[in-house]
Amino acid sequence: MLEGHPWFQLEVLAASGKSAGNKYRDAANWILEEEMPEEVGNKQVEQIDSKIFENAGIKLIFSALPADVARSVEPELASSGLFVFSNASAFRMAEDVPLLIADINGDHLALVEQQQKSRPGYIVTNPNCSVIGLASGLKPLADNFGLKSVFVTTYQALSGAGYPGVPSMDIMGNIVPYIHDEEEKVEEECDKILGKFTGEAIEPLQLNVIASCARVGVRNGHLESVLVELETDATIDDIKNAFTEYKGNKDEALPTAPEQLIIVTEDESRPQPVFDSYNGSPERARGMAVTVGRLKLRGSKLRFFLLVHNTIRGASGCSIMNAELAKIRGYI
Ligand SMILES: NC(=O)c1ccc[n+]([C@@H]2O[C@H](COP(=O)([O-])OP(=O)(O)OC[C@H]3O[C@@H](n4cnc5c(N)ncnc54)[C@H](OP(=O)(O)O)[C@@H]3O)[C@@H](O)[C@H]2O)c1
Repeated sequence: MLEGHPWFQLEVLAASGKSAGNKYRDAANWILEEEMPEEVGNKQVEQIDSKIFENAGIKLIFSALPADVARSVEPELASSGLFVFSNASAFRMAEDVPLLIADINGDHLALVEQQQKSRPGYIVTNPNCSVIGLASGLKPLADNFGLKSVFVTTYQALSGAGYPGVPSMDIMGNIVPYIHDEEEKVEEECDKILGKFTGEAIEPLQLNVIASCARVGVRNGHLESVLVELETDATIDDIKNAFTEYKGNKDEALPTAPEQLIIVTEDESRPQPVFDSYNGSPERARGMAVTVGRLKLRGSKLRFFLLVHNTIRGASGCSIMNAELAKIRGYI
């Protein structure tokens, strides 16, 4: 997603000692449909060390480390003055760390100023992949109608478990109604993302989300069935308008932002991972839109399905957009 990016240039790739010294094309297990960019494939992978980034004159780091590794490595990088945009869960709930989705809670970015009272750099995290979809769907509803309660059931793709992920014998012709720590992440992260930034801290929204998470035999795209109770009266048309008119940070043109963040499908059998995971335009924002459909309203209770591409909007794309917001707001 950084190939040809108008603002960021990929300079250094770093990983563990296992990969260090190899060309990226030999170190990486590349399973994407698109070809690996030639220039990236020829880059030598380095072992993570803040000196390497310092020597290369780098300020911005995208981290996709396992959480236990991120817990020790990311603060070291921030202490050496680097701006770390992380996909790992290690610091998501830390009080002075933004849990950021640029077009949902962009104002939370200013929390990095609290970190910079004690170190020159900072860490910005993006939420769990299911939560990025869910919070994107909930935000227009919370803004327009208020939310009394939220129940969500997820049908999560295999790529969310990394590679090789779930053993084929566990998932072929099967559904696994358990993903380690996932329901806990969905329940706590939503409150922080949709919480209020006071200028110094986040006051979490008390949503009391109840999540049920399952792994299904789908390659990409988390489908979620969401049931909410609204605080104020609304019609189906009011709700569709709230979704389609939601603009995020409309005053700031971010290169990876989709023109239409939430796409409402009228097809009664959609959204589906096979057809809707890569929704989003222009080309740089492919996979960055969240698609909602199958809206059903009974009094104040609304049910809808949403679909989010878990490794694009739900991971890399979210992190890149967070860094774009930081640049445009003068934090990089
Ligand atoms: N997959 C998703 O949809 C998704 C969504 C949201 C968040 N996340 C989170 O994103 C992170 C990455 O996920 P992933 O699926 O990409 O994992 P992954 O395929 O296992 O990649 C982990 C990376 O971290 C490096 N690494 C591991 N141990 C290291 C160490 N001690 N020092 C330096 N580098 C080390 C690995 O390099 P080597 O190959 O050299 O070991 C590899 O590049 C995880 O925290 C995950 O929970 C994933």
